[in-house]
This record gives sequence, C-alpha cells and structure tokens, in this order.
Amino acid sequence: MNHSLYGLIGYPLGHSFSKSYFTKKFENEGIWDCSYDVFPIPDISLLPELIVQHPILKGLNVTIPYKESVIPYLDSLDPQAMRIGAVNVLKIDKDGKLHGYNSDYAGFAATLLSLKPIHDWNKMKALVFGTGGSSKAIVACLQDFGVDYRTVSRTALSDQLTYDDIGSDTLNEHTLLIHCTPLGMHPNTETCIPIAYNSLSEKHIAIDLVYNPEETLFMKKVKEQGGTAVNGLTMLHAQAEKAWEIWNS
Ligand SMILES: NC(=O)c1ccc[n+]([C@@H]2O[C@H](COP(=O)([O-])OP(=O)(O)OC[C@H]3O[C@@H](n4cnc5c(N)ncnc54)[C@H](OP(=O)(O)O)[C@@H]3O)[C@@H](O)[C@H]2O)c1
Repeated sequence: MNHSLYGLIGYPLGHSFSKSYFTKKFENEGIWDCSYDVFPIPDISLLPELIVQHPILKGLNVTIPYKESVIPYLDSLDPQAMRIGAVNVLKIDKDGKLHGYNSDYAGFAATLLSLKPIHDWNKMKALVFGTGGSSKAIVACLQDFGVDYRTVSRTALSDQLTYDDIGSDTLNEHTLLIHCTPLGMHPNTETCIPIAYNSLSEKHIAIDLVYNPEETLFMKKVKEQGGTAVNGLTMLHAQAEKAWEIWNS
C-alpha cells in the first residue's frame, strides 16, 4: 500500500486544528494509507527542501505567515487563488511540482450560506475588519455574493476605512460585520476591534473568523446589543474539506 502524507506549513505552529481534523477524519473514514503532520519552517525558502525530504507528501495547508510569500515557489496557481492573491492549499503532483489553491473562499461561502440563502446577501452592506490573507478571500467571496463592502484597517489608504472613520452612521448602514484580525484569539481573549458596539442592534450579523474561543469578546459584544454572531468553525471545517477535495481531484 502506498502511503500518502499531508501536512501544514507555517511559523510558529502551536496546536494545529488541521492535524487533529485530518487525523480524526482518516481514523473515522478508515483512510489507513494517509497521515498528517505539521512542518514549522522558519523561512519559506525551506519549502523546496521539505518537498525533496518527504517524497510521499501529496498536499500541504499553508498558514501564517506564508499565504502570500509561498506564491513564487509554485509551478501553477489556480485562477481563484491568483485573483485573491493568497494560497492556503498546495497540491504536490507525482513529479514534485507545486500547485496553489485557496480554500478559505469556499469556507467563507459555506458560512454565508449557513446563515441565509444566496439571494438575500446582495441586500446587505458589509464591513470587513483587517486586510491580511483571510480578508482577501472574504472580499472576493463578498463580490461574488453581490455584497457591497468596505474594508477597515489600522492604516489609512484611499480605498479603505480606518477605525476612527467608523461612527454610528457607518455602523447603522453596514449590518454585516466580518472580523478578519487575530484580536480575541486564544490566549488574548480580552481583546477586540475598537468600534462603537453600543451603536449596534438586532439587525447586525457578525462573523468572526476566529474559532478559539468559541465565543470571542467581539461576538459577545455584538450579541449584547441583540445582534447575531457566529464564529469561524463552519469556515474552518469547510476549508479543510475543500482542501481534501483539491488533493483528491
Ligand atoms: N475560520 C477559519 O477557517 C479561518 C481561516 C483563516 C484565518 N482565520 C483567522 O482569521 C484571523 C486573521 O487571519 P489572517 O490569515 O488574515 O491573518 P493576517 O494575514 O495576519 O492578517 C490579519 C490582519 O489583521 C489586522 N491586524 C493584525 N493585528 C492587529 C491588531 N493588533 N489590531 C487590529 N488589527 C490587526 C491587520 O490588518 P490591518 O493592518 O489592515 O489593520 C492584518 O493584516 C486569524 O485569527 C486566523 O486564525 C480563520
């Protein structure tokens, strides 16, 4: 039986959701010829060496800080990943060639569809907090769902708002709030983005990409105003399944 290895690259890597998810999946589904491991590489330039050292590697998940810096190392880039400008899944073919994809998009689309049918989304306006790798996938997905959106950053640029620009009028107009920064993530659970939470109401829907803890401070504050808030778990599971589909396609 030929063994296939899958894994995660990033740095530093603490507890890995992906390793637990795929190890459990392989056990539950009787997939005995596959295993999953973590590869904390301190520099992305070590990727080619890692591929050579592990000839049974068939696929990798890519996490912070390499979702963008991995792109020059690829032999091909899926059009959706090219549009987003970030890669979080690598497929390694039998010749050791690397093909880049983005499964965060599919994960986020699954989250939106778990909340409302697709035709309801184009009536909403969104604020996307953070402009990193995940935010880029979220923005592409919002465009495809017809959602009008603005990105919010700590840095002032012509096409994005800063936290100081967001008053109660902006919050009243934008009822979909998507949190794509690491604030509130374990162990820094007492932090959240600085917005006027008391301007929110029951019409607001918040999606936090953070999934640990299950309820972040951001989610708690939205719910206190009567709004709806979900964490990043649906996205996490859906992006992992999309990665599995890519590796097996
Ligand atoms: N649920 C899932 O499946 C899933 C998938 C991907 C990511 N995530 C989670 O989403 C979060 C963001 O991931 P990412 O890959 O986009 O990270 P990232 O590339 O590091 O970007 C995060 C962005 O957040 C903003 N930011 C960083 N530190 C901040 C601070 N102290 N205060 C305010 N804003 C800050 C920055 O935007 P500005 O410089 O523009 O302010 C930065 O570009 C992480 O918690 C990650 O675990 C979850």
